[in-house]
Amino acid sequence: MTFFRSSKKKTINMDNQNKLVPECVPGDFFVDQTCINCDTCRQLAPSVFADQGNYSYVKKQPASSIEIEQANQALLCCPTASIGNKQEKISPEYIDDFPLKLVDHIFYCGFNSRKSYGANSYFIEHANGNWLVDSPRYTKHLQNKFEQLGGIKYIFLTHRDDVADSENYAHYFGATRIIHKDDLSAAPNAELIIEGQNEYTDNESFSSDFKIIPVPGHTQGHMVLLFKDRFLFTGDHLAYNPESDELIAFEDACWYSWNEQRKSMKKLLNYSFDWILTGHGSRANIEKERMKKKLLELIHRMK
Ligand SMILES: [Fe+2]
Repeated sequence: MTFFRSSKKKTINMDNQNKLVPECVPGDFFVDQTCINCDTCRQLAPSVFADQGNYSYVKKQPASSIEIEQANQALLCCPTASIGNKQEKISPEYIDDFPLKLVDHIFYCGFNSRKSYGANSYFIEHANGNWLVDSPRYTKHLQNKFEQLGGIKYIFLTHRDDVADSENYAHYFGATRIIHKDDLSAAPNAELIIEGQNEYTDNESFSSDFKIIPVPGHTQGHMVLLFKDRFLFTGDHLAYNPESDELIAFEDACWYSWNEQRKSMKKLLNYSFDWILTGHGSRANIEKERMKKKLLELIHRMK
């Protein structure tokens, strides 16, 4: 995984041209060498962008209208502005796509931030107040869209790496930031601090739809959020690999304890969910029993 920058058209000149990654097939879309391999573009436009190992490249120029839309969404969301289009400025209609509705009341925010190494962030619409899960770049566009959707009451921070511009959104919307005590250094002014390893719920304030589950491992204070016993917002604890059709965890990017992360993975067997919505790595929608089976297989591989 890797990432960084903005929604503006990238100006192409000979200096930039020389910095394009060599694997890109000829055509309008390109990736330059500032790419940090976060995988944002590959998630948004999997038929256009591929993983070289250290960075993304254009494996196929977009041809269909869907591919063109997806490639433009990837250009917009790239946290390092490493993707460009030689022909066109980004159209306002692509900007207006975000936040992008995924399912029910759940949106992918887009505008991934270089501050979080391009982590995905999400918006949940809820009658008791809307939630932001981790944070995108602070943009006027998203601020307006969140406002139109009813504002933000809670900002759930999965872990210290993905705080990004949450402080700006918290101040604008008067939102309560939630973080674990063991990752508090990333958001020392957070309004709600979770301690210990027990599940945290607050039926009066949140509604019973939300369960906060500490899962130390990737970082000491990592937490996941389970919504409606269906949607698990996993941060960097758990992801999906579509090529191998497996659930995965990132041992090479485990900053606290792989052994603790495995224990935390076992803890998730007590819950059922059919969606994982990730910080890094691919999202997945897998029927609950199959999800549990894949989770067991992952725990076995983590030994
Ligand atoms: Fe992380």
